[in-house]
Amino acid sequence: MRILAVESSCDETAVAIVEDGRRVLTDCIASQVELHRIYGGVVPEIASRKHIEAIYGLADQALANAKMTRQDIDAVAVTYAPGLIGAVLVGVNFAKSVSLALDMPLIPVHHIRGHIAANYLAFQELKPPFLCLVVSGGHTMIVDVQDYTKMQILGTTLDDAAGECFDKVARVLGMPYPGGAALDKASQNGDDTKYLLPRSKPGTNPYDMSFSGLKTAALNLIHHAQQVGEQLELDSLCASFSAAVSDTLVPRVVQAMKQTGYKSLAVAGGVAANSRIRRDMTAAAEQLGVKLYMPPLSLCGDNAAMIGAQGYYEYLSGNIADMSLNAYATKSILGEKL
Ligand code: KG4
Ligand code: ZN
Repeated sequence: MRILAVESSCDETAVAIVEDGRRVLTDCIASQVELHRIYGGVVPEIASRKHIEAIYGLADQALANAKMTRQDIDAVAVTYAPGLIGAVLVGVNFAKSVSLALDMPLIPVHHIRGHIAANYLAFQELKPPFLCLVVSGGHTMIVDVQDYTKMQILGTTLDDAAGECFDKVARVLGMPYPGGAALDKASQNGDDTKYLLPRSKPGTNPYDMSFSGLKTAALNLIHHAQQVGEQLELDSLCASFSAAVSDTLVPRVVQAMKQTGYKSLAVAGGVAANSRIRRDMTAAAEQLGVKLYMPPLSLCGDNAAMIGAQGYYEYLSGNIADMSLNAYATKSILGEKL
């Protein structure tokens, strides 16, 4: 089954064609990052307009790349939640019109389920059940992937997402948006013990996390240094911050793996590209004696191929929408049949 997949929830317009949920025939992305950089973050109205301008041509490009015509497509899948509402709406309306015009099934896909499914593209042998650490710009959670469309959230951040914190600290350090990758790069030559930053333990659920205290501590440290004219060691600050994020995530994942007894562990989302998190997850998986799946960096960030992968399994489970499909700024990953 060939699925035309559409993603437009933030600042990347993306269209892919994916076969049977596992094989990427083409994956086209038009990034708006440069455009938003001058504002230091995504401007929702500009994002929506740019999606409208890009999406139709990108779909034609996807078909051309795959040497296919519209008749070769069997279904259309689209991110319907969560994201910037105007941006998500562009993709949803485009997918609805494709479904109507070509008389093919319309498959709604939750963006975070898509991130998890990026692993199915990279690792043909990976099948549920497994545990997945989801770390993106807007979400941070430990998910028990019981089946392709059946999930349980074991723990989640109670405030900021990990990616949000990376970007905020990077911004204050003068790095261009989105600063996560630049902060990661700087951290690689630093001493991660140079600055003491908190690892908070919020609430009663051992799998829940908090990042706002860490973010505030890092920002206070930077502002204080600026006020007293102290020169911070940038590389070491980035290394200390990355270590604190990783130390907040990885021990919880280890505990959750022990509780579930799973033998497979995956990572997903833009922050899954982080070198410190990848290193610590690798060491943790080795110690646990479990198989670790980490998508290549190209599949960690937003893309449409992951939506096509998850779309296939949503279709198999009967999750098909009609023309009343709406876009949602927020929605639980648990979802409901539409
Ligand atoms: O999953 P994603 O592409 O978009 C959302 O669904 O939110 O994640 C984007 C986030 C941004 O916050 C970006 O700075 C962060 O992923 N990111 C990184 C790295 N690469 C991307 N954060 C830390 N280290 C990286 N290497
Ligand atoms: Zn994303």
